[in-house]
Amino acid sequence: MGFFEDYVARTPASAKEAKRAQAIIPGGVGSAIQFWQPYPIYVQDSKGPYVWDMDGNKYIDYCMCYAAMVAGHADPVIAAAITEQAKHGTLYGLPAAGATDLAEEIHRRYPVIDMLRFTQSGVEATMYAVRLARAATQKLGVLKVEGAYHGANDMLLVSCAVPQNTPAGPEWLPSSYVESAGIPPGASQHTYVVQFNHLESLEYQLKKHEGEIACFILEPCMTNGGVIPPDPGYLAKVRELTRKYNVLLIFDEVKIGCRIASGGACEKYAIEPDLVTLAKAIGGGTPLGAFGGRRDLMELITPLGPAVHFGTYNANPLCCAAGLACLTKVLTKDKYKEMDRLGAKYAAGLESIIKNLGLPASVTHEGPLGGIQFVPEKPHTYRQANRYNRMMWREYWYGMLSKGVIPMGSGWFEEYSISAAHSEKDIDDTLGITEDVLKAIKRML
Ligand SMILES: Cc1ncc(COP(=O)(O)O)c(C=O)c1O
Repeated sequence: MGFFEDYVARTPASAKEAKRAQAIIPGGVGSAIQFWQPYPIYVQDSKGPYVWDMDGNKYIDYCMCYAAMVAGHADPVIAAAITEQAKHGTLYGLPAAGATDLAEEIHRRYPVIDMLRFTQSGVEATMYAVRLARAATQKLGVLKVEGAYHGANDMLLVSCAVPQNTPAGPEWLPSSYVESAGIPPGASQHTYVVQFNHLESLEYQLKKHEGEIACFILEPCMTNGGVIPPDPGYLAKVRELTRKYNVLLIFDEVKIGCRIASGGACEKYAIEPDLVTLAKAIGGGTPLGAFGGRRDLMELITPLGPAVHFGTYNANPLCCAAGLACLTKVLTKDKYKEMDRLGAKYAAGLESIIKNLGLPASVTHEGPLGGIQFVPEKPHTYRQANRYNRMMWREYWYGMLSKGVIPMGSGWFEEYSISAAHSEKDIDDTLGITEDVLKAIKRML
């Protein structure tokens, strides 16, 4: 039996639930990323770094809801904050102090965020940040990175992968490719694409569209091609070029914000963007996002200015209470140090297994986020990462699942995410399992 067959053999209850769900929910999942062949595991319970599926199989989880569960699953401090707030109301449609408390905590971590507004998700945060940049500059153009995912909104769902049926363009000048049916051509016609860690690519587009571009939105450390950290000096030059061409710089820190450091990428790389988008960590496992930055820009938001931002659930007290507990009580300075230490240990352990086995793979990471890249050299661009060995990734995925580890999010381009709940023993156990799986893959080559 292969790993895929092992996976199917141990998950009959998930197979049954998938059939029931698929009759009423497209694909049987809440988001397409949650689906994999022949069906995903359906969760029964979760606690700390673990989830249990409906067959009772226990997994060490490194997907952690695509890096959102920074505190771990069912954290007792966050659960208590949610329970307490629920007694006083979950949604007022009126402002309350909890949102200001959380905004102040975010400002403490991100001095560059003078003001912010809350949303319910990352996709809204990036949509509003781009709208604000367009309103502020009176320009329409948006620059983004090939392979980068900023949520499924119409103007940013462009070139999130290398296109299958359209010419991809050279590495330095990727084509703009709309990822979904149903998006009007006009919605993305002003979205231009560059390659990450490629300054010539950026300067070419800035020059070509000079005077037309409102903003450059990027994840300062890419997490949609595995984890690809910025090359030394790249972000400083990005800041210099965006200033030179009068283009606003938006750091999309939905995934890495309050994650790779207490103050995210702004702190880690010491760069000041004009706007920042956040989600995941700031909600403590509940649906909460935010966009914020320079005061003069944020004062353009309604009711102060002309750029509209609405939402029934915005800044709701339940999510703000969960987020505040997560940031102020769980994610202490010591926790960041510990997550970094475990991240370094895990990456070094994976590297040594790969080296000893002589596998054509590499490891990239930034603190607690990282991944095995099934390409021989560490990639610096999305195109390089996308040359991964499909067979090896597939065997790794089902091999780890069938041995009780969710090794990363469910796509080659996702990452492993070490939370505040993972322990040294979890890392050691996972390295042991990884060695077994990679040895088996080596025998297949
Ligand atoms: C960098 C980045 N931006 C935006 C989003 C969209 O966030 P959400 O799924 O909360 O809409 C994601 C989702 O993973 C992301 O990784």
